[in-house]
Parts: sequence; structure tokens; C-alpha cells
Amino acid sequence: MKITIFGSGYVGLVTGACLANLGHSVLCVDIDSAKISQLQEGAIHFYEPGLKELIVRNMDKGRIRFTMDVKEGVSFGDVIFNCVGTPSNGDGSADLSYVFSVAESVAEFAQGYKVLINKSTVPPGTAKKCSEIICTKNPLSQVEVVSNPEFLKEGAAVHDFTHPDKIVVGAKTDTAFALLRKVYTGRVRTYIPVLETSWETAEMIKYANNSFLSTKISFINEIANICDAIGADVKVVSQAMGMDYRISPKFLNAGIGYGGSCFPKDVRALVATATSCGYDASLLRSVDLVNTKQKLLLLDKVVTRFGSLSGRVFSILGISFKPKTSDVREAASLVLIKGLLDEGAIVKVYDPVAMDEAQKVFGDSVIYCSSVVECVSDSSAIFLITEWDEFRNVNFRSLGEKMKDKVVFDGRNIYEPELVKEEGFEYVGIGRR
Ligand SMILES: NC(=O)c1ccc[n+]([C@@H]2O[C@H](COP(=O)([O-])OP(=O)(O)OC[C@H]3O[C@@H](n4cnc5c(N)ncnc54)[C@H](O)[C@@H]3O)[C@@H](O)[C@H]2O)c1
Repeated sequence: MKITIFGSGYVGLVTGACLANLGHSVLCVDIDSAKISQLQEGAIHFYEPGLKELIVRNMDKGRIRFTMDVKEGVSFGDVIFNCVGTPSNGDGSADLSYVFSVAESVAEFAQGYKVLINKSTVPPGTAKKCSEIICTKNPLSQVEVVSNPEFLKEGAAVHDFTHPDKIVVGAKTDTAFALLRKVYTGRVRTYIPVLETSWETAEMIKYANNSFLSTKISFINEIANICDAIGADVKVVSQAMGMDYRISPKFLNAGIGYGGSCFPKDVRALVATATSCGYDASLLRSVDLVNTKQKLLLLDKVVTRFGSLSGRVFSILGISFKPKTSDVREAASLVLIKGLLDEGAIVKVYDPVAMDEAQKVFGDSVIYCSSVVECVSDSSAIFLITEWDEFRNVNFRSLGEKMKDKVVFDGRNIYEPELVKEEGFEYVGIGRR
């Protein structure tokens, strides 16, 4: 099948590369000329394990290519995936201008029957609006709109796309459902359910999914803060909770809050959608509030420990919002680093893959290091912010010899307090001491 993908970011590229690998003929479109030039050379503008190899292999086979030509993109595909960004507006609602601009282009250039598949995360009602945009602009259009939200995780995106828990398709006609089944032949296995539903239900499933995971994280973070106050150990509490099969241990690690391009914006967008329908989503507002406060937690703790931070050196291990990605959007590290700089501290940073992204955010206001050892020298404290494997087994004894003061702020609870203390360090965790 001929498939066009609008938006060559995380979701668009993974979708394009994986569908090309299943034998489809794929054309990826983006409005960012730098990204397209890079992609045409077989390079990607972010780090995602296995993706570059998949793209290069399928480029060599002639199954995937890249363009900025919107008209060619619309003409090429029997199905057109809409994978453009849906960032937050100032009021938390989703900015749908990119999604609608693709719908406008499809209305303008599409000939004959085609399906426009919204894979971007969009509020309930968006497929309907896209359909109205197309009908208004081109009343004779035969384009059908489908909602097909994506559940992949950055850091494991290729695996997640090829081994999803479920495939959700919201459509109006049997023809569109049948076409989507054809697109995903090869992705579907006996154990992967395909849920065929209405536009609005499909759109809602994605928000409910992300909001629930965000809620789990904010819940355990709130429990951690109570543990901190009363001297309990949240790691043991969450371990015990996770043993209850009704709860499960996933997304139950206390830390300094969730980040990334999805959870924060999606929770806020669902709150805004609810508000626009006259419903106050107070639980989800609290999830967001707990998360915002959690990102400031270590800043409070470091001020409590040291008093003035002015002129002190601090080391940040990990900048990306989670391991195995270079994505720093809404990362907890950004809030902490900005807070430390505002207090007059000198900040040294190290991340295995997100240094270029950090440079775009902080310019020359922080010191960039190429190793953990370099990052901790002359420092008053280590902040473990992203739980990269590389940071799990650092040699605290030898790192301590290079430091001014020996304090570890463990923002992801990856270290054992007793072992760290044995190496002469003070340990400050999230809901554990
Ligand atoms: N990143 C994830 O892990 C993830 C997972 C599931 C769903 N999503 C959702 O998928 C959507 C895309 O997310 P992303 O992380 O891939 O975003 P991204 O910012 O990495 O990529 C979006 C791309 O769309 C391009 N674009 C914007 N307008 C365009 C247009 N008119 N035509 C062609 N290209 C255009 C941008 O230049 C950019 O390259 C969002 O709605 C997001 O919430 C993301």
C-alpha cells in the first residue's frame, strides 16, 4: 500500500519506518527543511534506539523517502497519517493548528478516495472537525477521516510500534475500518486486540491512557512526600503495592515528576476539554499540580541542606526526561537547573545522549561535561535526575574524592541509601532516607 506520513518527528518517523519495514511504500513529509535534508542523508534529529538502522535499511530498499512537497505527499498515499505535533496552548488546551493545516492540504490536493488518519494525540471532537474542514474546503472530496491514536514510548518506540498492547481505530464506515486492517496487516498478531470504535471514543482512549499513567505517578509521589514527613520508605511501600495484581508495579516509582512531550500536555488538554464541556476535572487538575510541585522538590531540599547556593558547584546526572531518549521536553532537569542557576549556583551537566538538546536550552549558562567523573569534580552535590544505566553503578568512593561536599540527591530512588552512606555520602531520596 502507498502511505504518506505528515510530520517526521518521533511518531511520524517510527510509524513510517515500521510500516515501510512491513513492505508498504512510504513517503514522509515535514515542513522543517533541516529535518528533511538530514533524513534524506539517512540521519535523524533525535536519539531513538534502532530507528536510524530501520530507516536506512528501508531507504536502501526504496521503501521510504522524505520530502517537503505537500502536494506530492497528499497525492502519493492511499492513506495519509497525520503525525504532526499538538503542543499546549497557554490555557492547557491542545494547539490543533498543525493538525488542521494538514486537513486543509488534504482537502486541497486529494483526488479520489483516501483516508486521513489522525495519529497525533488530539481531543475528542477533532476527527469530526477535520472532516468538517475537508467538506467545507472541498465539498466533492472523498476523503474519510479516521482516529488511530499511538501508544508508543520514546526509548522503546520501534518495539512498541511493532508489538502494541492494542490498536485503536475510530471510524465512520466499514470501508475505513477495512482499510486500516490492511494497513496494519503484519503488525497485528493473534494476541493484539484491534478495537474498532467511534471517533470520539478512540480519541478519548488515548487521553484516558496517558492521564491514568500520570495519575499513578503523581499518586506515588504524593505517598512519597507523606513517607518523607513520617519517616517511612516509599520504595518498600510501592514494592508492596505493586505485588497486588489489581495495582501492578508499573509507573509506581516515586521521583521528581513526569515530563516529556506527552503526559504533561495531555493531562492539561483533557482538563481543558472537560472544562470546555462544563465539567471540572478536579482529580486531573491535582495530578498536574502535584507533578508541577514535585519538580521543585529537590530545589527545596538543596536549599534546606546548604542555605545559600551562590557560587556552589552542583552536578546534574541526566537531562533527558527519561532514559534511552534525547528528548528534554518538560524534563524535570530543566526546572531544577533553572532553579539552581537562579540561586546563583554553578551547574555542571552530563547526559549520555541529550547534551545537544541541553545546549539548545541552556546555551553557555551551564558547564557541559563528557563523563560522570568530570561532572562531579569540585561539586557540593550530585543530583541523579535521569536513571540511565550508566549512573546505576557509579563508584561513589572514588567520585567522593573529587567532590567538595559529599551529598547525593537521588531524584529517581535508584540508589540504596545504606550503600551510599557507607561510601561517606549523605543520601537524600524521594520519600526515603
Ligand atoms: N513522542 C511520543 O512519544 C508520542 C507518543 C504517542 C503520541 N504522540 C503524539 O504524536 C504527535 C506527534 O508527536 P511527536 O513527538 O512525534 O512530535 P514532534 O514534534 O517530534 O514531530 C512533529 C513534526 O511535525 C512537523 N509538522 C508540523 N506541521 C506540519 C505540517 N503541516 N506538515 C508536515 N509536518 C509538519 C514538525 O516539523 C515536526 O517535525 C503529538 O500529538 C503527540 O502527543 C507522541
